[in-house]
Formats: sequence, structure tokens, C-alpha cells
Amino acid sequence: MTTATKTETARIAALREANVPRGVSLGTGLYAVRASGATLWDADGREFIDFAGGIGVLNTGHTHPRVVRAVQEQAANLTHSCFQVVGYEGYVTLAERLNKLVLGDFAKKTLFLSSGAEAVENAVKIARAATGRPAVIAFEHGYHGRTLLTMTLTSKEVPYKSGFGPFAPAVYRAPLPYALRGVSTEEALAGLRDVIEQIGAENVAAMIIEPVLGEGGFLPMPDDFLRGIRAECDRTGALMIADEIQSGFGRTGKMLAMEHSGVVPDLTTTAKSLAGGLPLSAVTGRAEVMDAPIVGGLGGTYAGNPLAIAAAHAVLDAFEQDDVLAQGERLAAKVRAVLGDLKAKHAQIAEVRGLGAMLAFELVKDAEMTPDADAATKIVDGALERGLILLKTGPYGNVIRILVPLTANSQELERGLGALEAAVGAVLA
Ligand SMILES: Cc1ncc(COP(=O)(O)O)c(C=O)c1O
Repeated sequence: MTTATKTETARIAALREANVPRGVSLGTGLYAVRASGATLWDADGREFIDFAGGIGVLNTGHTHPRVVRAVQEQAANLTHSCFQVVGYEGYVTLAERLNKLVLGDFAKKTLFLSSGAEAVENAVKIARAATGRPAVIAFEHGYHGRTLLTMTLTSKEVPYKSGFGPFAPAVYRAPLPYALRGVSTEEALAGLRDVIEQIGAENVAAMIIEPVLGEGGFLPMPDDFLRGIRAECDRTGALMIADEIQSGFGRTGKMLAMEHSGVVPDLTTTAKSLAGGLPLSAVTGRAEVMDAPIVGGLGGTYAGNPLAIAAAHAVLDAFEQDDVLAQGERLAAKVRAVLGDLKAKHAQIAEVRGLGAMLAFELVKDAEMTPDADAATKIVDGALERGLILLKTGPYGNVIRILVPLTANSQELERGLGALEAAVGAVLA
């Protein structure tokens, strides 16, 4: 390729190869320049419908006008002071909003951080400080981040843990119900009790569960299972942490997925769609638990940055004033109908599952449910060729997940679903 014909994408890709480590993968190979709603334009001016939403960050869509306005206004006034040095009201009032929003009829407090992993790290620190115990139980197929502790909590070895050991101590893993793959809620709870027995109930600080697994394949946890974990926490004195980082802020049809079961966790971690594209995460929980760490024990230079806090207020305003939940409900019904039709046509789609608009389908090769990761990759690639950004998920890489903004307009949704249908039709029999 001569310089004259070289695309912008190729030019940036070459720069990237020379300057950015390969460990940071780039699924689409695209470089974004601009985005709005559920539409994204790349460096070569190509237009794409975005069903990935920056991995679940954009439930209210790209460059939501409320978010843009709030960030612009905030940027003109105060971008940073570090909340531990000079506070600002937005942090405090956002904490108040999250304390009201998270389930639980008791006093709550909220700590802000920057990334999801940081929120999970802090939830574990707080649980250890509150209980004086070391052990944390995570679950099979769970994903909690890439830092040392959260990578240890994460189940999948490749690519998240390969070469990065030794891992953090006092992390244990219990089974998880996965009906399609033959693990029932009863078996999973029996496995959990067994793990507790081995650790010693008096040593367990916390159990951490995603109410709908994100990277683990969009598996909604049965209400009985969540109730079972709650019961084990009550029995042992451990704290229940709900990791709502991917399932939160309207994705499942409620503000938080735990609302579906009514099970009340002690601590909740949120991030991603909380701030509509700005880096912000939170730990919300029982006031006395949140106050367990000593003064100065929590924080971070950028944690709860004013721009991100302003963005989160705008996101919550959008939910309250523009009824984003109702928009999500209508969108979820359309997506579910299309996925249902695809399942009826293709035997390789073993299951369509999810909660609200957190929807996915799992691909298999045969009646033995052998995972078909290859078909999933081909569908994602075929979708991209048709102008749709799509993501895989699941422990076996054979699940296609839909994370389209809940605010996508009907043309965006139709174009995206049309490309999805065409890509699936081209790959599956
Ligand atoms: C459930 C869950 N927890 C934690 C994380 C980690 O968040 P971050 O990538 O912002 O550190 C993720 C990210 O995908 C997630 O889905």
C-alpha cells in the first residue's frame, strides 16, 4: 500500500503497533472519531451501529446531550481538586442519590473511585475491615477486573490471568448455576457450603456475585441462588457483595439487577454506565460497614473526579426525567423477538437468555452442547463487515451479547438487528 492510498485506520494501526503493547487487544481494529446515540464513526468516516456500548458503559448512549452539557459546564468550573484535599458538593449529592437507589431499608454510604476493578478492590478492603476476616469467595465464570486482587477473583485464566501469577491469597471459588451446562442451583449452593466448610465459616469476610454475569456469558443468577448466598452470608457473618458493574443502570430493566430478586446485598459495586462514558465507579453499602476503614483508609487521587461526578448526575437525571427504563423495556422486547426468531431458525443457538436488555445467545456445535467459539467469532466478524459492532462473551467464547444503548432510536436498532440477522444467517445453517 502506498502512502497516498493508505487509510487512516492503517496509519493509526501502524503507529499503534510500534507504540502500544499487544496485551491491549483491539477487537474491531477500528479507531473511533465521533459517536452519537448508538452510532459511531471511525477514522475513515465509516459509520457503525454500536451494540457494544464500550462494554456496557453507554446505556444512555454515546455523547448523551445531558452528559455532554454537564461535563462541559463542569470543565469550565472545576476539573480536579482531589476530594481528599478539597471536597465538592457533587460528590456528596451523588453519594446521596446512590444511597437511595441501591436496595436496602437501612442507612447507606457511598465511596467513589475511577474503575470497576478499583470499586471491587475497595469493596473487599471494606469487607475485610468490617469483619476482621481474610477470605473472599467468588464464583465460577465470574469477572471482577484486571488488578491483582480482582484478577484473582476473576475465574477465566486465558487471557486475564495468563502469566500474571502468583495471585492474591485468601480468594476461593465456588460453583455457579448454569442450567444449560447441567449445574443446578441446588448443586451450586451445596458446592458453596462445601467451600465455606473448608475455609472455616469464621474466616469468610465476603462473597461476591454478579447478579447477571457479564464476561461470564450473560447468565442471570436464579433468585433462589441469590437468596441462598444471602442465607450463607447471614449464617456465617460474611458480607454479600453484588457486583453490578455490568448489570447496573437500567441494563436489566431495573436500575440495578438485584431489584429483580429483591435480595439485599451488604455492599454493591457499580461503574460503567453510571457515568455515561466518564470513568467513575462506586461502592455503596451499609453505613456501619462502609465506615469500618479508618480515616484516610479509602480514596484515590482521581477517585470521584468532578467531571465524572457531573456526568453521573446527568445520567441519573436522564433515567429520572426521560424514562430511559421504559425505552430500554421497548428495546429489549424487540431484541428478544429477533433473537427468538434466530433461535427458531438455527439449531446451533442453544439458548437465548438474559434479563431486560442484557441479552445474549449461546452457540453450540451439537446436541452435546459443545461450545462453538468459532461460529461466534465469525458472526462478530460478519456483523462488523455489515456495519455492526458486536461483542462475544462467556467462559468458552461462544456467546454473543447485546449491549446496545437503551436510548438507541428505531432506525439504529433496526439497522443493527438487520446486520445481526444477516451475519448469523451467513454463518449458521
Ligand atoms: C462485573 C464486572 N466487574 C468488574 C469489572 C471491571 O471493571 P473495569 O474494567 O472498569 O475495571 C467489569 C468489567 O467488565 C465487570 O463486568
